[in-house]
Amino acid sequence: MCGIIGYAGKSPCQNILLSGLYALEYRGYDSAGIALLDNERFTIIKSRGEVSRLEEKMKAFQASESTLGIAHTRWATHGEPGERNAHPHKMGKTALVHNGIIENYKEAEPILAEKCYTFCSDTDTERAAGLIDLYYRETGDPLAAISRACKKLRGSYAFAVMFEDRENEIYGVRLGSPLLIGVGDGESLLASDTAAFPAHIDRYIAMEDGSISRIFRDGFQLFDMSLAKIKANEQPLTQISRGAHKDGYEHFMRKEIHEEPAAVLKTLAAYIKNGLPDFSASGVDTSILKQLSSLHIAACGTAMHAGLFAKFLIEKFLRIPVFAEVASEFRYNEPIFDGNTALLVISQSGETADTLAALRLAKERGIYSIAVVNVPCSSIAREADAVIYTHAGREVSVASTKAYTVQTALLSLFALHLGSLRGSISQKEAQKICFSLSRELPEKIDEVIAREDEVRALCHSISQKESAFFIGRGVDAHICAEGALKLKEISYINAQAYPAGELKHGTISLISNDFPVIAVSTQLCSAEKTAANVREVASRGADVYLIAPADFPQDGAKRVFALPKAAEPLLPILAATVTQLLAYHTALLRGCNVDKPRNLAKSVTVE
Ligand code: G6P
Repeated sequence: MCGIIGYAGKSPCQNILLSGLYALEYRGYDSAGIALLDNERFTIIKSRGEVSRLEEKMKAFQASESTLGIAHTRWATHGEPGERNAHPHKMGKTALVHNGIIENYKEAEPILAEKCYTFCSDTDTERAAGLIDLYYRETGDPLAAISRACKKLRGSYAFAVMFEDRENEIYGVRLGSPLLIGVGDGESLLASDTAAFPAHIDRYIAMEDGSISRIFRDGFQLFDMSLAKIKANEQPLTQISRGAHKDGYEHFMRKEIHEEPAAVLKTLAAYIKNGLPDFSASGVDTSILKQLSSLHIAACGTAMHAGLFAKFLIEKFLRIPVFAEVASEFRYNEPIFDGNTALLVISQSGETADTLAALRLAKERGIYSIAVVNVPCSSIAREADAVIYTHAGREVSVASTKAYTVQTALLSLFALHLGSLRGSISQKEAQKICFSLSRELPEKIDEVIAREDEVRALCHSISQKESAFFIGRGVDAHICAEGALKLKEISYINAQAYPAGELKHGTISLISNDFPVIAVSTQLCSAEKTAANVREVASRGADVYLIAPADFPQDGAKRVFALPKAAEPLLPILAATVTQLLAYHTALLRGCNVDKPRNLAKSVTVE
């Protein structure tokens, strides 16, 4: 999703901004641009495609000594992803970059047209730049102009704004989309994400929602929307929030899958004491957990699949209803918050706009909220009543892998915690599962990863097809949903997950020898039934790839990946790692750009 970087300081900033753009590439984008201010004149350069193309294009210009600039990677929302719609947008004396969406941008058009502004792009951003410029012309005061324009604009956005006759300052606005201030010695920066800050920046401030910043060489100021000064909460920049490296791996995705054992170990260690789950570090209110009569879960994408996995376990352990819903639908389905309920949101980035909106809705209704988040100090982490952090480390690959594995492991522990708090699981049983999760799981994931070649061998034939089914029952159906998403995202194979028993109620008509089926079967209670479904599709010509323990029925399967011997609750998580490797190697065989799948963004900060 769009990335913003801005610099006000003492050094020529062209390369600082370019490095920032490279660091933001992982978020997903389709064009890039930069604006530098020199002698009260903007130089604006934009390019479609990769940041490297922008860099190439910049070589045609004389190297700039400018110490004030803004830059942007754009993920198209309004208007095709070409140069004319790339940011920065300039209107009058104002140049602006933007992350997010302005819903009522059309309303600005007649106001601006009347004042003789003309439009060069299809973007909502250009209209926002126009409004700010108009009010700047009228007031001569950047803060007043920005605050007045923001009062007119509806949506969710972050801006970095420069004015041609203000050589020392950049303005930032945060209203829904993240924006951070990097604090240096004689320099200040604005960025969507800490990854964009240069290595020597060691402090940052996450701007509050509804705030405006003014950054300059010697510091910064923060204001609310009525321009009253507000205090800043400075944070140290930790290693995890810095730019990421592939450490010798060809792709971030593979590196991140290989990091899963360590990430699970680290995360679970934070929530286990004396062999039992202990979530006191998260600040979760135990008395609320004890009283729950239902639970709502909202999340997006892969995190939603972790949510479905959690629903399965919590319902099993607690026997209370759990309503899991994709966050983008949550509010439109008018959730019923009955009795003693709470909302659990799950998000790797902690910035996903839809998940944040679901959280805010629950908060408005006075519902207790718990967030499972990977990025410290992210918006969701700051706004939820309690935060259970996954310690997965930075995840760069757009296709989420280690975050999912860690989420499922942590949510298993959380479900166990709820069960033991409420007495539906005995202390002995809790201790046993806790041991399996924290000790056995990382080792077994390692075992699966060590057999990567075996997974790769399954992929040759799958990579030549254009469709696939993932089938499983119960908790395995949720693993299939994630497996199919992974394959779709990065290999562009049309992979669909189906509950194994549902296939024959319609979709089995698609089965042919061009339609491989990946079957996941990890639970003894459904092993025979899934085996029957495998035979049904195999006898209709499908090549079936079975992921199951070695002693489960295998007839009908063309190839089998035998899961390591492990406690039953761990097996679905191990199967998930197999499906991640399967998606990775299939995509590679198809020549796809694994870390940067088309059209996708890592952090989706628009609703
Ligand atoms: C985007 C990403 C997905 C991710 C989803 C939720 O769609 O491409 O990989 O699962 O957002 O992200 P979150 O950061 O909230 O987990």
